[in-house]
Amino acid sequence: MATTPLVSMRGISKVYPDGVKALENVDFDLYPGEVHSLLGENGAGKTTLMRILYGEIRPSSGKIIVEDREVKWSGPWDAIRAGIAMVYQHFRLVETLTVEENLLIYLSSLGLNRAEARSRVEEAMERLGLEVPLVARVGDLPMGVRQRVEILKAISGGAKVLILDEPTSNLTPLEVEALFSVVERLKSLGVSVVYITHKLWEVTRISDRITVLRRGRVVATLKNDGVSEEELARLMVGELAEQGGRGARRKPGKAALTVRNLRVLVDGVERLKGVSLTVREGEILGVAGVAGNGQEELVAAILGLLKPVEGEVLLWGKPVRSPRDFYKLGGGIIPGDRSQILAAEMSVGENAAFIFYTGSRKIALTPGEVEALYREIKDRFHLVAPGPDAPVGRLSGGNQQKVVVGSEVLRGPKLLVAVNPTQGLDIATTRFVRGLLSDLASQGVAVLLVSADLDEVLELSDRVVVMSGGRITGELARGDATPEKVGVLMGA
Ligand SMILES: Nc1ncnc2c1ncn2[C@@H]1O[C@H](COP(=O)(O)OP(=O)(O)OP(=O)(O)O)[C@@H](O)[C@H]1O
Ligand SMILES: [Mg+2]
Repeated sequence: MATTPLVSMRGISKVYPDGVKALENVDFDLYPGEVHSLLGENGAGKTTLMRILYGEIRPSSGKIIVEDREVKWSGPWDAIRAGIAMVYQHFRLVETLTVEENLLIYLSSLGLNRAEARSRVEEAMERLGLEVPLVARVGDLPMGVRQRVEILKAISGGAKVLILDEPTSNLTPLEVEALFSVVERLKSLGVSVVYITHKLWEVTRISDRITVLRRGRVVATLKNDGVSEEELARLMVGELAEQGGRGARRKPGKAALTVRNLRVLVDGVERLKGVSLTVREGEILGVAGVAGNGQEELVAAILGLLKPVEGEVLLWGKPVRSPRDFYKLGGGIIPGDRSQILAAEMSVGENAAFIFYTGSRKIALTPGEVEALYREIKDRFHLVAPGPDAPVGRLSGGNQQKVVVGSEVLRGPKLLVAVNPTQGLDIATTRFVRGLLSDLASQGVAVLLVSADLDEVLELSDRVVVMSGGRITGELARGDATPEKVGVLMGA
């Protein structure tokens, strides 16, 4: 490791305008060619620290030193020009444009003409060993490929520091491995990577050093030599909570959700090719599979958002033809992408109330009711927020997820469709939400769990079906469902 850091953040504090103290006197160094992981519970300040380095927000106090010079950014473009780039979990690409157009727009903002930009992109692809389909429309690409486009964008723009904020939350296991190879390659090119994640195995696998934040302060910065996941977890939370046991043994009851021979076309392409499944009261049916194999369409059809050309969706024997039917018959949904359901500028209380009262006749709420709902989510889901009136967009990612999960679960659906329910949640809250799904099933709720996280599916499900190419390629009972068997069915 080089002796002088490429980036040095010294005594960084951040108090947001609404008084939230997000960081306190944080020191953070980044050496050339190192992978430095940032760990911490939801709301610990990880994203805030990196948004400061990326010039998106200003620190309340403290200094940033890049290559021995103190810098003061007036916006991200200053940071980008100095070689610092950030890739968010929600990519900042124009979906209706092609990959090449996206790259050229970014590079032209850096003052490159088309010819220069093209040769930069080619060079970066070569150096990174990355193939991306330049003529494809971004909106048509899987998440893993979009992420490669973001990385390519950063590197062709001359990034020496790449910040990845929860880069694996929407990736499949294979895509995660591919990302790790790219990170190795970046290291060998001397690029420094800041890696934010909640997954401890990723941290021990790819980091050189690890910094742990707790409530805005650094608790430790350590080398990744032999540190265990347990130690890291303890550093993050202070002490470890009891491991929640699985809910009581369950006895499945009546069929709650029945999907019969569902065929769905999207833009003339057959995305569901005759899918059938049943979820009974009191059981969790897991749907595993590589993202993009029909899971999204299946969920949309169950909600009545996509009309099938053949087949039907029934809740307790009654057909679902619209979201209204779905809610009226007792359905509930935790969507895979929380940004689709939350209105960032609206308050936490309004968002919670909106989700909580979806499908009910109620239209107006008293401030007292909103406040009570907020309290309940806060207490039961360990929500960290300044109050019911704060805009939801100002909460940390994990706390936004708690608003979505909390409001929907408190609504008390009899069938819950949960898509990636723990994405962005820290270890303790993930454990809590998994325990909650399990408890709901024990109380008789039917749960359809669609998750890209295979560990999650295997841990929670009573039965697992695997989707591939718009079909269900197999069903495995709990105990019989191993990662290997699921893997075979994923490719079937
Ligand atoms: N724009 C903002 N305005 C006010 N408060 C904010 C804003 N952004 C973040 N915060 C608050 O600052 C604290 C740190 O948030 P941050 O997003 O940095 O956490 P994080 O460690 O990235 O968490 P997560 O794992 O949930 O993504 C939280 O209490 C959050 O509510
Ligand atoms: Mg964050």
